[in-house]
Amino acid sequence: MNILMVCLGNICRSPLAEGIMKEKAKKYNLQIKVDSAGTAAYHAGEYPDSRSMEVALKNGIDISDQRARKFRSDDFERFDKIFAMDDSNYSNLIALAQTPEDKEKVEMILNKVHPGEDKSVPDPYYGGKDGFDKVFDMLDKACEKIASEIATKNN
Ligand code: 4NP
Repeated sequence: MNILMVCLGNICRSPLAEGIMKEKAKKYNLQIKVDSAGTAAYHAGEYPDSRSMEVALKNGIDISDQRARKFRSDDFERFDKIFAMDDSNYSNLIALAQTPEDKEKVEMILNKVHPGEDKSVPDPYYGGKDGFDKVFDMLDKACEKIASEIATKNN
């Protein structure tokens, strides 16, 4: 199972989602591949935002090895599941999908904890540090659910 986490810049939210999901994979002993990307290329090649690296480290996760990249259409072939952080990322991904199978791979990540509600992970980029704490907690709950579901299916 290959999972891709997608936001706009791939420096704030999706790097956290990638780091948290990799940690959950260790916790549940899952053989999965996790990556992240942004729908925009503004920050391609950059480290995660320092506030994301800080909140991750505070929670025992080092995401400093990550570098931002833009989503590519062949990601639809390379990944089984593509999680969008917000409704705008979701619409952009659906617009890039070539087949009904591609579209089916895309899901709003918070629907894992609030099914059918299409809630967005708020963009913390222009806000303060507390926004990053909130994003971490939301993503931690969603990734815990994703990981426990995979673990259950595998058993
Ligand atoms: P992200 O946050 O999509 O969670 O990585 C953002 C990062 C950069 C920008 C917007 C959102 N930006 O406008 O540069």
